[in-house]
Amino acid sequence: MSVVKINVLQVPAERREVLEQRFAARAGEVDQTPGFESFELLRPTDDSDRYFVVTRWETEEAFTAWMESRAFRQGHAGGDGEGGGDDGSSRPSGPPAAAQAELLSFEIIEESRP
Ligand code: HEM
Repeated sequence: MSVVKINVLQVPAERREVLEQRFAARAGEVDQTPGFESFELLRPTDDSDRYFVVTRWETEEAFTAWMESRAFRQGHAGGDGEGGGDDGSSRPSGPPAAAQAELLSFEIIEESRP
């Protein structure tokens, strides 16, 4: 069954808007990736400062291939430098909104939907 990869981003209150705009600007970017199944950006509704980037993939290999792709590197800080910054590429300009990131990995062992 599918695997779930959750990137937990710690975002200071004053950086939330920037973070959400950056994700909005990249909507649909990952959709055509082989093995990609879903993506959700979850904003905390309690007093937590952690956003969850919940992604779901057909296989571990599909996720790994995306992480190692140019598409991923170009869209994330610390990428390969190809057209980053203010030149209109998809890579965000300015410092990351997130102060910290942690990747959580799961496999789905049970699931149901209405
Ligand atoms: C589980 C898969 C993912 C991992 C491991 C990951 C990794 C990261 C990391 C480490 C950061 C924080 C540092 C940075 O800015 O580079 C980040 C931020 C970000 N990621 Fe991802 N990411 C994932 C999925 C996605 C997806 C699917 C999208 C878009 C469709 C996306 C778009 C962004 C954006 C816009 C930021 C905000 C940069 C900022 O802090 O201003 N990420 N991601």
